[in-house]
Amino acid sequence: MNHSARGDAGKRAAAEAAWAFLEEGTVLGVGTGSTVRYFIELLAQRRPRLEGAVSSSEQTSALLRAAGIPLLDLNATGPIPLYVDGADECDPWRRLIKGGGAALTREKIIAEAARRFVCIIDPSKRVDVLGRFPLPVEVIPMARSLVARKLVELGGQPVWRDGVVTDNGNWILDVHNLRIGDPVGLERAIDQIPGVVTVGLFARRPADLVLVGGERMPEPPP
Ligand code: 5RP
Repeated sequence: MNHSARGDAGKRAAAEAAWAFLEEGTVLGVGTGSTVRYFIELLAQRRPRLEGAVSSSEQTSALLRAAGIPLLDLNATGPIPLYVDGADECDPWRRLIKGGGAALTREKIIAEAARRFVCIIDPSKRVDVLGRFPLPVEVIPMARSLVARKLVELGGQPVWRDGVVTDNGNWILDVHNLRIGDPVGLERAIDQIPGVVTVGLFARRPADLVLVGGERMPEPPP
């Protein structure tokens, strides 16, 4: 089995394992990406009785619509019992890097609104220290260069994801060569730069539970 086939099997298994957490009759938050796509396929096949879903991206909204699942406005739902989403990296404390699919802002909003955030990943996403995957930062377009200079001061090498416009009309900087020893501190520092909309570090509000290719990730070390 090649690397990508193994990754696909892991994604599928994680999506299948997330099914056990679904509560019928409630609102579901749905993330973005290829792992979540497997979860939406299950929703389409099994048709659980859901009040509806809050979507994290236009891409996910299209898939949910095709699956016949009603889309709900977060302003009307209040707290969400369950949010299912993937990640680009995950450390032992369930802190994440997200935003490879450029949906980080809506993803972070839904994660914050969720009582339970179940993260589904294949084993390649597990790391001991975050930062191998370039850290996505969504920025207001006019602030791109300013934010990039500040990110260099923080020790990173930002690269503009040229040609990509987020669902919110903004741009993405991918920050390379960060070894993130203090994810909560770095999240806070980047959040404070004027022009930053969202940093793809999910450390202050990590996942509540991580399913790695169908297996529940062990509790973090004390
Ligand atoms: C999108 C995300 C995705 O969760 C992340 O990129 C993982 O995607 P995939 O499941 O395709 O590996 O954060 O913004």
